[in-house]
Amino acid sequence: MTRMENSPTAAGSGASATQAFRASARDGSGSASPERVSAVVTEILRGVHRTIREQQVSYPEFQAAKQWLIEVGEGGEWPLLLDVFVEHEVEAVAAATQQGTKGSILGPYYLPDAEKLPAVTELPMRDGEPGTPLVFTGQVRDVGGDPVPGAELDIWHADREGYYSGFAPHIPDGNLRGVVVCDGQGRFEISTIEPAPYRIPTDGPTGKLIESAGWHPWRPAHLHLLVRATGFRPITTQLYFAGGDWLDSDVAEATKPELILEPVPQPDGRNRAEYDFVLEPA
Ligand code: DHB
Ligand code: FE
Repeated sequence: MTRMENSPTAAGSGASATQAFRASARDGSGSASPERVSAVVTEILRGVHRTIREQQVSYPEFQAAKQWLIEVGEGGEWPLLLDVFVEHEVEAVAAATQQGTKGSILGPYYLPDAEKLPAVTELPMRDGEPGTPLVFTGQVRDVGGDPVPGAELDIWHADREGYYSGFAPHIPDGNLRGVVVCDGQGRFEISTIEPAPYRIPTDGPTGKLIESAGWHPWRPAHLHLLVRATGFRPITTQLYFAGGDWLDSDVAEATKPELILEPVPQPDGRNRAEYDFVLEPA
C-alpha cells in the first residue's frame, strides 16, 4: 500500500485514487480487440455527436468542456468521476449474469492487502474512533444454502466524517479496513462504527460539474465489501443503512433495495446489523 501524502481535498483524494488505481491490476489494458474498440467507441462518439446537435452546443461550450476535461486529468479525478457517473452501468451488465447476493460498484477507494482478521473481530480503528458502534454479523452461504467455511470479507468504509483511510492524510493507514476470514460455518461478527454519508469533494472538477449542474454531491452511508472464497465467483458490493440520508438519490446510483441493513439498537448502546451473503460457483 502506498502512503498517501496528499491533502484531504479533492485534489488529494483524486490523486490518491489515481495512484491506487495505477497500483492495482484492474486497468485491463490490452484486453479489447480492434473490433470491440471500434464498436464501443463508435457508439460513444455517436452519443456525443447526437447530443451536440440536439443541444446545439456552441464553440464556447465546447472549449469549456475541453478545459474541464483537462482539469479532471490534472486533478487525478478520472477514477472519482467514472466511478460515480459510469460504473453503475458496468455493474448492471455484470449483475445480469450473477446469482446470489446483489453486487454494487467498487468505487475509487478500495486498497488491496488490508490486515487479515479472524471471524470475530474489530476493524482497525483509532483510539476513541468517533461514531455509533456497529456490530455487523452474518453468514456466507452457497446458492444451495450450505455454509462456505473460510470465506473472506474484504471490508472497507468511511469514518464518521465520510473520509477513507489511504485517501485522507489525517487518518492512519488501514483504518476501518480489513480482510475478515469467516469461521468453519462461514460466520462472521465484525465490530466497527457506522460510517457517515460520503460527499464527492466539492473543490475539484467533479464537484464543480455537480455544482454547475445544480445536482447534489452525496452518497448514502455505506459499507464496501468484496466477498470471496475458493471455487466461488467473488462479489463486489455495498451495504446501506435503512432510513439513512440520500438512500433514494445516491449520486452514484449504486443502491439496491436488497442491500439495505436494518441496524437494531442494543441495550449496550451499539447497533447490531445482520446480513447473509450468497455466493455462486465460479
Ligand atoms: C466515489 C466514492 C465512494 O465512496 C464510492 O463508494 C463510490 C464513488 C467517488 O467519489 O467517486
Ligand atoms: Fe464508498
